[in-house]
Amino acid sequence: MLLNGFNVAVQALVDDGKVIWPDFLNEEEVRLLRAEMDARRTRFHAAGIGREQGYVRDTGIRGDDVLWLDNDDPSLPVPVLARLEALRQIFNSELYLGVAEFEAHFAVYPSGGFYKRHLDQHRNADTRVVTFVLYLNDDWRDTDGGQLRIYLDGPQRGTWQDVTPYGGTLVLFLSDRFEHEVIPATRERRSLTGWFRRRAM
Ligand code: OGA
Ligand code: MN
Repeated sequence: MLLNGFNVAVQALVDDGKVIWPDFLNEEEVRLLRAEMDARRTRFHAAGIGREQGYVRDTGIRGDDVLWLDNDDPSLPVPVLARLEALRQIFNSELYLGVAEFEAHFAVYPSGGFYKRHLDQHRNADTRVVTFVLYLNDDWRDTDGGQLRIYLDGPQRGTWQDVTPYGGTLVLFLSDRFEHEVIPATRERRSLTGWFRRRAM
């Protein structure tokens, strides 16, 4: 992952509002993070929708299990949070996005799991600016399903872009702009997902 990759990502975010960044992590880094997920497996819980009082668990909408991470997690075997922090700083210095922090969780979709079409913003707290999804799958095939389907806007409205969740690929997109969904896969599907956020007013 070269510094150049950061510049490409910044430009793509400006041009398209989204970035697909293959090989943000290499195979070995993905393997190490998968092993760390396995070690923490008993701490995962079913994901919900919304926040605080509005929080509900609804497996008809999403079927993943998540584990929230601390932003400073020294026991992670790969400095992936530091790289996301570097990205956060570049978004501020180059794009003035004013993202003060990020939040991140591991996510595991069991085989057949999905997340119906949605926008990544909470009704009561509009602080999510950029969504990131970093895939942690091993040897993913196109035929395994599990695509992230991003619904396009503007002249491309009515069409979508599918992203295959290859291990090591990072996807970034503007959280208030693109509706998206997770298509069911025929095998377990893993990621580290999160949001660069503005501080709540
Ligand atoms: C989400 C989400 C996409 C993915 O967690 O909000 O849309 O590809 N994830 O896992
Ligand atoms: Mn989402």
